Amino acid sequence: MKAYRAAILRFAPGREPRRSAIFEEDGLLVVGPNATGMQVVQAVGPYRDLKDTFPSVAIEHLPGRIIAPGFVDMHIHFPQTDVIGSPADGLLPWLENYTFPEEKRFSAIEYSAQAATFFVAELLRNGVTTALAFATSHRESVDALFTEAQTQRMRLITGLCLMDRNAPADVLNRAAPDGSSDATEQSLIDSEDLLRKWHGTGRLGYAITPRFAPSCSDAQLRGAGELAARYPEAWIQSHVAENMDEIAWARQLFPASRSYLATYDDFGLMRERAIYAHCIHFDDDDRALMRATGAAAAVSPTSNLFLGSGFFDYAGADRVGFHYGLASDVGGGTSFSPFHTMLAAYYVGREGQTKPGLSLSPQHLWWQHTAGAAQALGLDGQNGRPAVGNLQPGCEADFVVLNPQATPLLARRTARANSLDELLFAMIVLGDDRLIEKTVISQAF
Ligand code: GUN
Ligand code: ZN
Repeated sequence: MKAYRAAILRFAPGREPRRSAIFEEDGLLVVGPNATGMQVVQAVGPYRDLKDTFPSVAIEHLPGRIIAPGFVDMHIHFPQTDVIGSPADGLLPWLENYTFPEEKRFSAIEYSAQAATFFVAELLRNGVTTALAFATSHRESVDALFTEAQTQRMRLITGLCLMDRNAPADVLNRAAPDGSSDATEQSLIDSEDLLRKWHGTGRLGYAITPRFAPSCSDAQLRGAGELAARYPEAWIQSHVAENMDEIAWARQLFPASRSYLATYDDFGLMRERAIYAHCIHFDDDDRALMRATGAAAAVSPTSNLFLGSGFFDYAGADRVGFHYGLASDVGGGTSFSPFHTMLAAYYVGREGQTKPGLSLSPQHLWWQHTAGAAQALGLDGQNGRPAVGNLQPGCEADFVVLNPQATPLLARRTARANSLDELLFAMIVLGDDRLIEKTVISQAF
């Protein structure tokens, strides 16, 4: 066991997210193995109350520092690290001119491996300890990312990108080399193969990954839905209702579905653990479908602002009541830093603000990128497994050590904070990777 003395931020499960933060000015976090050997939080609370309870445990004192849950990124593209900041008129030209040409390189295992090493290191450097990520349509990219995440013991979920049409040949799924199956069949065989190889290995999880409806044939979406039914423990990830041209295209390709979102439901791809990026241009029937199926939205504000896609409707989501959390969506998104994402989410929430007092509180923003995102992913302690994204007793011990003195301006501004909300807001507005002094990953004993 080991203990850390510092200020500690965590969230009260079940409490209204806008007011669920718990902050100990002088706290103690005690971590140690659970019955399965996973390092989890054994105790957390005020230092004065806990210091005599664990007399033989070594305490690392971190004066002036804040311990907070590791961040959870609900949607990021591993092969798009090197396309961040590529200018385009909108989503579809951005995919065609920058993203697809880069993604084709991931058919090479060496290229995938070096990109995975950088990607995982960059997430951890930015305090992200759990991520749901896209790979490419090449098996090599999936194996490379899982291998690196396993080496670093990061909690990571990814899967083979399913795309059998409407993109250049070198980013589409490939037929079996011996001609025994076509690209669609082979993509589903490969998905199941990779799922069986990686899902549940250490801290890794598999996501069945139709890129978005326009890149998948009916047969591929149907096969993905059948796979999802056979493996209810696996995740599903895709994109929906991001951009007006994309929506018009999806409607044209699937005219029988009630809406773009409903297309996924029609193929059995909406359920708990199904994560849809963006979810911007929804009507209330779409919102009700999200709620009824238990699917969750990965809100990606830096991407939506950068690509001019639109603004996630927080008031609509809360009115109908479906799960959502925050995501970087790199490389449409502009930063790996959760602070940049939380700030962009604040701007987006302001844009849609119709009544005073409804803008996103700093506690709510932070929750959306930690405990709220974990809840949306089904990683909040269901089925007796330890939760992530929080530092309550029993949670996996993934955390960040924040140094609010990291820059001269952060030091000045945080010293003036008169409340928890002021302190959190100062870090959201001024923070970036410099604020993350250290990222600690739960280790197995
Ligand atoms: N829709 C389909 N593919 C993508 C992608 O790579 N990024 C974003 N932002 N939207 C998509
Ligand atoms: Zn995306």
